[in-house]
Amino acid sequence: MIVNKLIIKNYRNFIEAEAELNESLNIFIGDNGQGKTNLMESIYVASIGRTFRLNSESELINFNEKKSRIEIHIRKNNYNIKIEIILEKNKKKIVLINGVKLEKTSEMIGILNNVIFTPDDMKIIKGSPIERRRFVNIDISQIKPKYKYLLSKYKKVTTERNIILKNYYTKYENKDIISIWNDYLVNIGTEITFYRNEFINNLKKYAVNIYSKISGNKEEFDLLYSSNIGNINNLTKDEVKSIFYKKIKDNFENEITRGTSMFGPHKDDILIKIDGKECKYFGSQGQQRSAILALKLAEIEIIKDETGSYPILLLDDVLSELDNKRKKYLIKHIEGIQTIITTTDDHELSILTENFNKKNFYINRGKIRNITN
Ligand SMILES: Nc1ncnc2c1ncn2[C@@H]1O[C@H](COP(=O)(O)OP(=O)(O)OP(=O)(O)O)[C@@H](O)[C@H]1O
Ligand SMILES: [Mg+2]
Repeated sequence: MIVNKLIIKNYRNFIEAEAELNESLNIFIGDNGQGKTNLMESIYVASIGRTFRLNSESELINFNEKKSRIEIHIRKNNYNIKIEIILEKNKKKIVLINGVKLEKTSEMIGILNNVIFTPDDMKIIKGSPIERRRFVNIDISQIKPKYKYLLSKYKKVTTERNIILKNYYTKYENKDIISIWNDYLVNIGTEITFYRNEFINNLKKYAVNIYSKISGNKEEFDLLYSSNIGNINNLTKDEVKSIFYKKIKDNFENEITRGTSMFGPHKDDILIKIDGKECKYFGSQGQQRSAILALKLAEIEIIKDETGSYPILLLDDVLSELDNKRKKYLIKHIEGIQTIITTTDDHELSILTENFNKKNFYINRGKIRNITN
């Protein structure tokens, strides 16, 4: 899959901008606050349907406008596909694929696959388990359409079940209906756990190798899905379900007291280890950065395995954070993968990518200029 062209209108600080991308490397150079991250974000929105930042949807529209538009042309499996997103203040966003309006935004997921790496991604290591669950949720959703559906169903189940737990002794009928919600929780929860465990095991296969190369074969990387019902590796779905049921049964009074579902994938975590120690607590800054890099590069390979083609790689200002050896490894690794790199300083990057097939762009106050010579 290749992104050929990007047209954005009234998107954040871009009033009208267009870029024809190279099928290999694209470097966007610009000072702070000129629109580099905004540009990456527009591609991400055309991929996932929402931003990776904390902003609300209406904040994506230029401050002085009411309507914004992202148009992206991609080439995939010998077909040309046009993705259009129309954002309007106080209205539901509209997504069109080759001019046909989608009923649900979620239907767009999987058309334009991306892997994004921003300095903010350090929170995958440093942050709470929520950040790691979000990371796997977004990634699995890109390759397994059913997963997203299961997640939204599971969310409804935990919400409903929690209401019943909170009022358990005040409504007589709760004693009858709780078992239905237990079944939902266990069945959907186990499906989600299996998707995630498989994804993490696949990710691990690539990431271990990549990390080893990044660290010059000096350090060992490990990745583990940590289910809060216990060790689930090598168990069948039925075995996991019976452990899950037992956990609920043994802790039922506790759940009622707390008024919340204490077990299930909404409480799970992913352990990232270097030389046997948890990276979150014992990893140095450089090791943590390398761990994220290994995860992101492994993710690219998984998307390729699942979909048959590489996703677009978006590297937002991450080079400056890496030491020289790691920079060189990363640049070498991305050859053959369509990549967008943003940078404030192009000097070092131009040396590192000297013989690359590439295009350079300059971003200044929401305007894009192709400066490839
Ligand atoms: N809805 C909006 N309308 C207009 N401008 C906006 C909107 N949202 C954000 N901006 C502006 O866009 C500008 C560029 O932001 P962006 O994060 O893309 O910069 P950047 O080039 O990535 O900078 P840095 O190098 O510091 O990361 C900011 O000054 C911000 O105020
Ligand atoms: Mg930025």
